[in-house]
Amino acid sequence: MKKSIVPVVFLGYFGLIAAVLLFMGFYWQAKYSPPEQPIKFPHYIHAGKLGLDCKFCHQYVDKSIHATVPAMQICMNCHQTAAHDRPEVQKLLKYWENKEPIPWVKVHDVPDYVYFSHKRHIKAGIDCANCHGDMKVVRQVRQTRTLRMGFCVSCHRLKGAPTDCWTCHK
Ligand code: HEC
Ligand code: HEC
Ligand code: HEC
Ligand code: HEC
Ligand code: HEC
Repeated sequence: MKKSIVPVVFLGYFGLIAAVLLFMGFYWQAKYSPPEQPIKFPHYIHAGKLGLDCKFCHQYVDKSIHATVPAMQICMNCHQTAAHDRPEVQKLLKYWENKEPIPWVKVHDVPDYVYFSHKRHIKAGIDCANCHGDMKVVRQVRQTRTLRMGFCVSCHRLKGAPTDCWTCHK
């Protein structure tokens, strides 16, 4: 009798850890699942296969607080002619014909009381992947970092960047 309690306790312990990890996985999935976008724009093709620089589309990332999403004109440089047989490209052509802006859904969003600047980080040589993951391989944009205060502050400590409260809360 005494012997059999050992594997039970053992299983219980690892069972609990497995359950907690599973729960955390589901929580992350639900909280950071990618929103439905008006066009399924594939980064893995444009930034990966075609090798376009992030700045080709996110033109303001090293010039301003915001990286911004590209104007449709940038897409049309190629899609006047490229890949018209794809249904997702036909959606792009429709927006273009109707002169309607594409209503992209914003994925990364820190609260208004947080001051964040792309320019400062890019100028300091911080790679996009630190905060957005490897965008050259993704089919759909989703948040892959918490972007919570602990995330920001731990890198600031590591890199000797300021950690005073008013750095990020003006
Ligand atoms: C430098 C040229 C270029 C630019 C700029 C460009 N594309 Fe593309 N795009 C392509 C090419 C080439 C393909 C086909 C690639 C392939 O499948 O190998 C493609 C494919 C696509 C597809 C189809 C993916 C699929 O297979 O279903 C979509 C959607 C798309 N582009 C949207 C956009 C949007 C939106 C923009 C602007 C934000 C844009 N593209 C900018 C060249 C470009
Ligand atoms: C051909 C144009 C193009 C290129 C090149 C490109 N992007 Fe994008 N990016 C877009 C478009 C269009 C969106 C908005 C649609 C979406 O979220 O899927 C976007 C969205 C994003 C977002 C999410 C924005 C949000 O709403 O929070 C991030 C982060 C991003 N891109 C990073 C990158 C990085 C990093 C690279 C380089 C490795 C890159 N992009 C290259 C066109 C491009
Ligand atoms: C130090 C972290 C960090 C780095 C590095 C970073 N970003 Fe961001 N990015 C963010 C945060 C935080 C947001 C949300 C900003 C907000 O809510 O205003 C964001 C938002 C975005 C957006 C949505 C539009 C916008 O301007 O808010 C795009 C596109 C984007 N980033 C692209 C890029 C690209 C491309 C690079 C590299 C050239 C990059 N980011 C580097 C943290 C980062
Ligand atoms: C991967 C590392 C890294 C991450 C993650 C990061 N930062 Fe930074 N940040 C830096 C570095 C390095 C600097 C210093 C840049 C310089 O010297 O100009 C900096 C500078 C800043 C500055 C300007 C500081 C000043 O001197 O006024 C602000 C504001 C800032 N970060 C906010 C944030 C926020 C908000 C986040 C989280 C959403 C964040 N950072 C995440 C590395 C990081
Ligand atoms: C490097 C950037 C950075 C620095 C430095 C920083 N914060 Fe924050 N802070 C953030 C971010 C990003 C958030 C948003 C967190 C979120 O989305 O839950 C935040 C959120 C908060 C919140 C709201 C907490 C919550 O859970 O809702 C408080 C309060 C706060 N910060 C206080 C401070 C104080 C006090 C200091 C100085 C000791 C400080 N912060 C320094 C980036 C920073």
